Amino acid sequence: MTSGPDDATGGEGPPGSDPPTTEGVDVVSCTRCPRLVESRSRIVNGVGPADAELVFVGEAPGANEDSEGEPFVGRSGSVLDDALREAGLARSDVRITNCVRCRPPENRDPTGEELDNCRGHLARELAAVDPAIVVSLGKVPSEHLLDRSVAVTSEAGDVADVRVGDRPYRAVISVHPAATLYDGGQRETFFETIARAADLAGVGGDDGGQSSLGAF
Ligand code: URA
Repeated sequence: MTSGPDDATGGEGPPGSDPPTTEGVDVVSCTRCPRLVESRSRIVNGVGPADAELVFVGEAPGANEDSEGEPFVGRSGSVLDDALREAGLARSDVRITNCVRCRPPENRDPTGEELDNCRGHLARELAAVDPAIVVSLGKVPSEHLLDRSVAVTSEAGDVADVRVGDRPYRAVISVHPAATLYDGGQRETFFETIARAADLAGVGGDDGGQSSLGAF
């Protein structure tokens, strides 16, 4: 998807040797999904460094994200922050975004059409950041990126080659952090997956990214 007349991204960052910026990939207006235009109070763009080696992709903003304008700031976000800390990373070290940038009504799953409508925004963001590893957080993002059905619990930690836009990426499949809130048994799976993703991306760890995590 390219930008159309019904959506717009922010201006490109300044040229030269300034730090990398994703300003040009922030969506500032979009009306492709009429039901989401009604249910959102804002468009929630990705946050984090423009050159992050690790990008987390969730499903869609919930109520907290919609009100604060940042992905994963609710209870799921606290779990993600804990797992990042345990992997030797701060939230500010990684980029966090969603497949769909507007909150669906009653927190329902985004439809296939809504996912498709928003895919170009995600493609532009990933192409600009160019991460070593993309982590798909939960079933909806995993199936959207891998383009097949995914059993996230049994496939958590697996690495897959995906294409978003015209670019290939290495993706690590993960359970959604919210799953750990309903099923404590998923916490270890989630934390191990995040540690493995950090290791594959060459970031985090006790020794500044040089850690060597055994296979799990
Ligand atoms: N769940 C998601 O998938 N994304 C968010 O931003 C928050 C919760």
